[in-house]
Amino acid sequence: MHLSVRRATEDDCKLVFDWANEPEVRKASFNTEKIEWSDHSNWYFQKLKNPNSLILILEVDGFPAGQIRFDRDIEQNYFLISFLLDAKFRGMSLGTTLISKGVEYLSSAQKGSIVCVGFVKKENVASQRAFQKNEFLLESESNDNLKFVKTIE
Ligand SMILES: CC(C)(COP(=O)(O)OP(=O)(O)OC[C@H]1O[C@@H](n2cnc3c(N)ncnc32)[C@H](O)[C@@H]1OP(=O)(O)O)[C@@H](O)C(=O)NCCC(=O)NCCS
Repeated sequence: MHLSVRRATEDDCKLVFDWANEPEVRKASFNTEKIEWSDHSNWYFQKLKNPNSLILILEVDGFPAGQIRFDRDIEQNYFLISFLLDAKFRGMSLGTTLISKGVEYLSSAQKGSIVCVGFVKKENVASQRAFQKNEFLLESESNDNLKFVKTIE
């Protein structure tokens, strides 16, 4: 199985839309509403242009299998992570690989150390495992979510 990550392009707009609207992905998100195409395409093209955002696609043997997005929070000085796998590629711990390959790609493009953060719903055990296996630390928890943090030197 060959695993690689690449930057998302304009051609991935529909793929990312379909992934974002998949029921398990909406359920895992903090905004669970269905996403409309026009909202998505405006949002997506802004993200691609935004120097503080990075969207990567995980490919398994050349097939798009998942996505990880990093949004730099300037005030808090960290990169916020969102990630998902295509339903066909779940159940094989590829979420762990997606985070590790994504963080490696991001950190190699940055000077100095970076901080990455993920917020995960308490019921989302698979996502929590993926952060823990990447040595993210549980920094805090609120009523419904856990905050995972890792500093990459
Ligand atoms: C989160 C996501 C990427 C993880 O996918 P995955 O890597 O295929 O997850 P897996 O089913 O392989 O589970 C990962 C690990 O959690 C464990 N796990 C999963 N569900 C579990 C449960 N209910 N109880 C205990 N352990 C559980 C698995 O056994 C596995 O452990 P291992 O790596 O030690 O073998 C995927 O579920 C997804 O895309 N979900 C929808 C979007 C989402 O939730 N994104 C994250 C938002 S924070």
